[in-house]
Amino acid sequence: QDSIYHEKNRPQFHFTTRRGWINDPNGLIFYEGEYHLFYQHNPYEKEWENMSWGHAVSKDMIHWQELPVALSPDDLGTMFSGSTVIDYNNTAGFNKGKTPAMIATYTVDGHGKQVQCMAYSLDKGRTWTKYKGNPLIDSKEKWNSQDTRDPRVFWYAPGKHWVLVLNERDGHSIYNSANLKDWVYQSHTTGFWECPDLFELPVDGDKGKTKWVMYGASNTYMIGSFDGKKFTPESGKHYFSTGTIYAAQTFTNIPESDGRRIQIGWGRLSHPGMPFNGIMLLPTELTLKTTKNGVRLFSMPIRETEQLFEKTGQWTNLKEGAANDLLKAYNNHDRLRIKATIKLSHATSAGLNLLGQHIIDYDMNYNTLNGVFYSPEDMTSMELSADIYIDRTSIEVFIDNGAYSYSMQRKPDAKNTEGFHFWSNNIDVKNLEVYTVKSIWDQAKN
Ligand code: FRU
Repeated sequence: QDSIYHEKNRPQFHFTTRRGWINDPNGLIFYEGEYHLFYQHNPYEKEWENMSWGHAVSKDMIHWQELPVALSPDDLGTMFSGSTVIDYNNTAGFNKGKTPAMIATYTVDGHGKQVQCMAYSLDKGRTWTKYKGNPLIDSKEKWNSQDTRDPRVFWYAPGKHWVLVLNERDGHSIYNSANLKDWVYQSHTTGFWECPDLFELPVDGDKGKTKWVMYGASNTYMIGSFDGKKFTPESGKHYFSTGTIYAAQTFTNIPESDGRRIQIGWGRLSHPGMPFNGIMLLPTELTLKTTKNGVRLFSMPIRETEQLFEKTGQWTNLKEGAANDLLKAYNNHDRLRIKATIKLSHATSAGLNLLGQHIIDYDMNYNTLNGVFYSPEDMTSMELSADIYIDRTSIEVFIDNGAYSYSMQRKPDAKNTEGFHFWSNNIDVKNLEVYTVKSIWDQAKN
């Protein structure tokens, strides 16, 4: 047991499974002091197959404990993505005394189609009973499509009913229900693919001024309004997070006193030679802020992440050569956090490298950051800031306080001859902070 989690290429502050394959996070929910992470899982092999719901719990969304598989394949098929809610009002009738049921709504893939099903748990997600009346929704014929999946359920308080968002063929549909069993189709928003999410957020922290965000598996989103039955977009599609992230989902049932909208995404990263594959990226808080281009989604690691790091150095106003000399001391670290603000003078492109990988590759002429269009809010300052999280197999970069973020594979076996270094000869490193990983996450001891 003890050697599990101590493998050479085992991420140290990201969730990975003991063994097997993981993809989408499912059923993210907070309940009775525990955060639950269910996830698409093949418990037997490192390949995508035998889809089941894996399960892990945490008190802080950083240290996870893996539990036995929650949902396994049945006669209808394999367990695809979905979500969970707590049925406080016993609308579905599964509650037992004062214990409300945790209800999972998920897709079953089998017999040439994808249908929506439900299961409930009365012991904090440890054991599950599948509903005898499954499936709840079978819409293949209506859409003439096998792509009907990934139900995202939440309680719509103003209308006192449940809402289910479902990927159907070419976009996300809205269904309504009073009891989580009988669902009535309402509307459809085209232009999305897989793993819907839909939620309301205050703009600039003002609870009196909210907007709704609809997004899909690629983390592209639209801003708009929602009346419980129909999402009305008021913007085109934007992106806020790119790279290896896929199929992100946000937590439900986070207490109002906390009020955060927290997302976890699947990191499509490979782990050669390891008994597992795929990771969950750092949990991030999503917020809406007014920018020059309109209201946009921002994403930054949750404050609980701070406990992992210890600041070992901070320097200001360095020339890149001096910064590179300082970074040499960290060349051998396979886990690190680096915060940097760089200021370009007349350089057209500049950045930060690691092992020949561009962690930052900013081109102010083309307005691209690692190949993706990115225009800083304040072009006149010529500055770009980055908060970078390096684990054994992943690199996550949060630009300009979360205005844009991306993730990439860290090649664990590459030789670290080049180390970290800023490149381009026309940049000032206005601020540089380096953090080492303080508490190494020992899942085995959790
Ligand atoms: C997204 C996805 C979902 C589906 C699941 C199957 O990565 O394709 O649409 O439910 O993975 O594992």
